[in-house]
Amino acid sequence: MTIREAIDARHSVRAYTKRPIDGGILKTLEDEIAACNAESGLSIRLCLNDPSAIKGLWAYGSFENADNYIVLAGPDTDDLFRLSGYFGERLVLFSETLGLSTCWIAGSYKKGRVKKLLGDGETLAAIISIGYAARPGKPHKSKSFEQVTEIEGTAPDWFRAGVEAALLAPTAINQQRFRFLWQDGKAKVKALSGPYSMIDLGIVQYHFEIGAGQPVEVEL
Ligand SMILES: Cc1cc2nc3c(=O)[nH]c(=O)nc-3n(C[C@H](O)[C@H](O)[C@H](O)COP(=O)(O)O)c2cc1C
Repeated sequence: MTIREAIDARHSVRAYTKRPIDGGILKTLEDEIAACNAESGLSIRLCLNDPSAIKGLWAYGSFENADNYIVLAGPDTDDLFRLSGYFGERLVLFSETLGLSTCWIAGSYKKGRVKKLLGDGETLAAIISIGYAARPGKPHKSKSFEQVTEIEGTAPDWFRAGVEAALLAPTAINQQRFRFLWQDGKAKVKALSGPYSMIDLGIVQYHFEIGAGQPVEVEL
């Protein structure tokens, strides 16, 4: 499975089996986390066999056996949330190619507990549950291309391909609070206000770049 194929295949999964992540797969995932940390300056880490951080059936989201999670944390800069979105989603899609399912979680977990895992000077952005799916996720309702774009003149085909990939991205409460702009012959993206919309911005930036095969300028 390619990363572009993973964009089509991925849906948030909240119910996992008890099966531990296979040893070889775990090593591949740890290597990718290390590569993301080296590139981003974040301190992303994997936490295994901790059933108490992600809240159970009573909470929004109804998680089951969500015992493993990726912690997204890093230095407390203005860009922490966008960077966490960008590199977290790189790990989400990479995990999908390894046969693992995921769900971004910014609300329904015990933040105080996860914060204890952090080092000095690290700020927590969000976590991502990860494991083998017990029940598959399903496609989310989506805004249209027209609803999320502002285009001056005619945009190239790769711009449309990028936006279509971005519309398949996870966003907090499926809000899709972003705009892709085609202006002065350049692709740009910005976040609209909304809960966790800077994390969403990094996520959709990554999806756009995979779908378009081109970078997109971020307007902060
Ligand atoms: C930044 C962010 C935070 C999220 N927080 C939660 C959460 O706290 N609990 C939860 O059940 N789902 C959470 N989600 C998952 C979204 O509800 C989900 O991505 C969205 O409904 C779209 O569905 P899909 O991921 O299956 O495409 C979050 C997603 C993102 C991107």
